[in-house]
Amino acid sequence: MTPITYIIEGPEAMTAFGHSLADILQTGDIIALDGDLGAGKSTLARGIIEAVLAKAGSPIDDIPSPTFTLVQSYPWGDADDPGREIWHFDLWRLDGADEVIELGFDEALHRHAMLIEWPDRLGDLLPEQALRLTIDHPDGHDGHNDGEGARRLTLSGGEAAAWPTRLNALNQQ
Ligand SMILES: Nc1ncnc2c1ncn2[C@@H]1O[C@H](COP(=O)(O)OP(=O)(O)OP(=O)(O)O)[C@@H](O)[C@H]1O
Ligand SMILES: [Mg+2]
Repeated sequence: MTPITYIIEGPEAMTAFGHSLADILQTGDIIALDGDLGAGKSTLARGIIEAVLAKAGSPIDDIPSPTFTLVQSYPWGDADDPGREIWHFDLWRLDGADEVIELGFDEALHRHAMLIEWPDRLGDLLPEQALRLTIDHPDGHDGHNDGEGARRLTLSGGEAAAWPTRLNALNQQ
């Protein structure tokens, strides 16, 4: 799709953007979160997870960063699909694609929804239907993102999962 960009003015706005993505998240979705250290990937992922779980009637306070565990999963079941989950990956420390395969990556692709920090660590394993969400500085330069401030979010890809249509609907709300 033609990339869509948003300027996000601070961490609370990033969390709020996560809440709106949670409204359109579906089973089988993959959101690949790109951006340097401290860009705001986890802030956004937490926003999505907290809103999705609150909406499903199982709110949660603690959403730890899966830096050491590679993945944290959260139950996201409903009457139709009690076993559904959200998987939050942080692949910064991933040594090889085998490790995610062992975690059940292939089965999870259709069964659950996935938010993936450092998705490039997956190489060819990252499915084509993934929504690519890149976080950088509003003026386009990259580098360390310490501190408060604005971020630029660029959304692209995801045609196979109808992301462009869903994001359009979001923009019109
Ligand atoms: N507009 C913004 N959006 C998101 N975070 C922001 C923003 N402005 C400042 N921040 C701050 O930047 C930090 C982002 O940290 P976060 O853990 O979300 O980044 P990350 O991309 O997941 O980093 P890592 O690569 O280490 O996992 C937080 O301290 C947050 O408060
Ligand atoms: Mg992170």
